[in-house]
Amino acid sequence: MRDPDAPRLPSSPGFWRSPLRGPWFTSVLGLVLLVGITVLFVTGLVSYAAYNPGLSPVNDKTPGKGILGFYLFAWPTDPHWLYRLNQGVHVTLGITLIPVLLAKLWSVVPRLFALPPARSLAHALERISLLLLVGGALFQFVTGVLNVQLDYVFPGSFYPLHFYGAWVFFAAFVAHALLRMPTVLRNLRHPREERNDLVSPRPAEPTVSRRGALWFVGGGSLLLFATTVGQNFDGPLRRTALLAPHGGGDPGSGPNGFQINKTAAYAGIDAAETGEGAWRLVVTGRTGTVRLRRDELLRLPLYSAALPIACVEGWSTSDQWWRGVRLRDLAALVGYDDDPPDVFVESLQRSGAFRKAALRANQVADPRSLLALYVNGEELSPDHGHPARIIVPAAPGVLNTKWVARMTFGDL
Ligand code: HEM
Repeated sequence: MRDPDAPRLPSSPGFWRSPLRGPWFTSVLGLVLLVGITVLFVTGLVSYAAYNPGLSPVNDKTPGKGILGFYLFAWPTDPHWLYRLNQGVHVTLGITLIPVLLAKLWSVVPRLFALPPARSLAHALERISLLLLVGGALFQFVTGVLNVQLDYVFPGSFYPLHFYGAWVFFAAFVAHALLRMPTVLRNLRHPREERNDLVSPRPAEPTVSRRGALWFVGGGSLLLFATTVGQNFDGPLRRTALLAPHGGGDPGSGPNGFQINKTAAYAGIDAAETGEGAWRLVVTGRTGTVRLRRDELLRLPLYSAALPIACVEGWSTSDQWWRGVRLRDLAALVGYDDDPPDVFVESLQRSGAFRKAALRANQVADPRSLLALYVNGEELSPDHGHPARIIVPAAPGVLNTKWVARMTFGDL
């Protein structure tokens, strides 16, 4: 039966009755978020650098970033699994932290309703920063998950929204973490002593201990981790990635049986254009333009490289054996014998982002960077970019252009 004295408004301290709430519970969750969200922020910024956005407008989905791009650097090609690791950590950790974020918000929910909304100017400013913190956290997590789960549904582009959102959220996060650190340290040292308005004045009977509640949150995180992380591996492990629709689907079997995001049909590739008779690779550079049929490409020296495909959405494959012509040998065909420059690559793809992409000179020069014609000993399948695709060590998946039609070296 309902207690007739029970406060009806969430702004009243007695309204919130869980005996679990209190500074210790909030502090422990805060500490986990401090570590986890810092890693998310760094791996997120690194992922943006991996696109080499300064190289060409086609690589840059956040062109107005201004000084927020101060940290950008030329993306390396070593170790060849760098993007795979970075993006696997970013997406898997982001999904794993969801229960911790929800528990943290639950632990402080009485404060969100506290009245008066501001007691002083300083308090008003802190409340505004909390708006950015809570709003920013929800925005980052929701946009990230939607981007992985769906073909993006938000208005505008995911990239700038998630990039600017990260800066706003992280600024509020740093301010909050600094302001609360003394509380966190006090509570971890003396878990039983501190009491404040997060502790309910009329607590209900406990149904679980505080430690039990933390195990519950940790269990939720573990479950999400276990149903996501498999998207970074092949074989039976990939089938455990129940929450990863792009990375987790069955990629088929055989040499071409590994993950893709975009099929040839989705990209609008017309089989008549990629056939032996019709397709030509157009390569332009210092000394002019050459047009190569597939059989002419096959007469050039062919090399192999074991490289993964790693997607911004967090899935990746293990190393596949690619075989094709070195990018630096193609540069040499058009006048760059010892000094391969940047290259601009265009696909036969009809529409969509990244049908054009630029690669930096260090990526072209790497002997493992190929215009691949074969994978795992077989011709590329249509969905993997037949007749020819780019594969570059440590580059994000979308820069490994499929169905390549034209390559322009130098003068980007
Ligand atoms: C996604 C990140 C986070 C969100 C959304 C968040 C949200 C909040 C909110 C809304 C409050 C109540 C503020 C008030 O009115 O006083 C709060 C309190 C608090 N937070 Fe966070 N927080 C986050 C991360 C952190 C981190 C990283 C730490 C650790 C340094 C932390 C430690 C605390 C502490 C100690 C309190 C106060 C508990 C008390 O006063 O007894 N939080 N948090």
